[in-house]
Amino acid sequence: MAKQYKIITYGCQMNEHESEKLAGFLTEEGYEPAEDKADADVIVLNTCCVRAGAESRVYGNLGALLPLKRQKPSLILAVCGCMAQNEQAFETLKTRYPYVDIVFGTHNFDKFREFLRRRTEAGERVLEREESNGPIVEGGVYRRDKKSRAYVNIMYGCDNFCSYCIVPYVRGRERSREPRYILQEIGELIERGAKEFTLLGQNVNSYLGEENGTATDFPGLLRRIDGLRGDFTFTFMTSHPKDLSDDTIEAVAMCAKLKKEIHLPVQSGGDAILSAMNRNYTAARYLDRLDKIRARIPACAVSSDIIVGFPGETEADFQATLALVRRARFSTLFMFMYSERPGTPAAEMPDKVPEAVKKRRLKELIELQRELLKN
Ligand code: SAH
Ligand code: SF4
Ligand code: F3S
Repeated sequence: MAKQYKIITYGCQMNEHESEKLAGFLTEEGYEPAEDKADADVIVLNTCCVRAGAESRVYGNLGALLPLKRQKPSLILAVCGCMAQNEQAFETLKTRYPYVDIVFGTHNFDKFREFLRRRTEAGERVLEREESNGPIVEGGVYRRDKKSRAYVNIMYGCDNFCSYCIVPYVRGRERSREPRYILQEIGELIERGAKEFTLLGQNVNSYLGEENGTATDFPGLLRRIDGLRGDFTFTFMTSHPKDLSDDTIEAVAMCAKLKKEIHLPVQSGGDAILSAMNRNYTAARYLDRLDKIRARIPACAVSSDIIVGFPGETEADFQATLALVRRARFSTLFMFMYSERPGTPAAEMPDKVPEAVKKRRLKELIELQRELLKN
């Protein structure tokens, strides 16, 4: 019988997509997907650290895997992804979880096959973390189990350094894929029957792909994808409001295959908070972008993310967030309590909002959005 694997994914679409690459590597190594964890020869945890809750889920699950590992010492446990890229978490995994066989970060993700072999062939415990990211590695083999829907990465990393966010530290600097690789990948997927694509990047609006000395910006890429032959639709995430250009709105309006939906995280409705978050726009500027979208594409669905309880958030700031939500009429809203991430500027900021206040604000916001969706 073939060796079996199980991949457990935490976090965003980017991680889900990268798990498809891990599955591709494992398939090339002769593994097959396991129905159940208990049948697996390799278990990989592809982790997230965007909020403290994501991290504690990983540690909890690792603890729960210990009995399985004791029962079956040949089981290979691997931990990778954003949390493993973080230096403190990497140290914790190394010292406090000695039964984890392989730990690696996001910057050496493409070396997983080598790490796995070092474990299986040389019996080595593999602990590998690289400080910075190298150039994009093309030619990855993804194992996509859904035939009709596919994720396609257009860029990696983030340079925005929003003051609360760990992503730029664990995903490295922004790098855009060359348009020809993106178009080739989508073309091949269309031939294999894919009908729906989601383009992925932390801030797709700053996409800038270079090839043969010419640059393609984000709206340019959208138009080139829209021009591909075949019966398909596509969408993208995530857009940063500060970089959402009129030309991108125009491309969304004009590209026939592009779905009329934009995820445009606002984070807060209070200008002092937006500034402390290093978001580089005001509430008025955000609403201007929103009005522009709706004027040009009346049927466009706009979704958003909001963080409540950022350090220094006053009751008045929170009221400004509620007012913005009332005005914006988001089709979907993802709402989070601020979670302190060591190493980010916001972790050093004064006037932390008490847990109980954060909870109350979150509840109020959820209720408001629910009411708005009823009308
Ligand atoms: N690049 C994307 C996704 C970032 S993570 C973007 O900029 O929108 C997804 C969401 O998680 C963010 O939009 C934000 O609302 C939330 N988030 C990020 N860091 C957080 C933190 N420290 N605490 C709470 N929520 C956070
Ligand atoms: Fe984080 Fe901001 Fe980058 Fe999004 S744009 S990943 S919130 S730093
Ligand atoms: Fe995504 Fe979490 Fe990493 S949100 S980019 S998996 S920290």
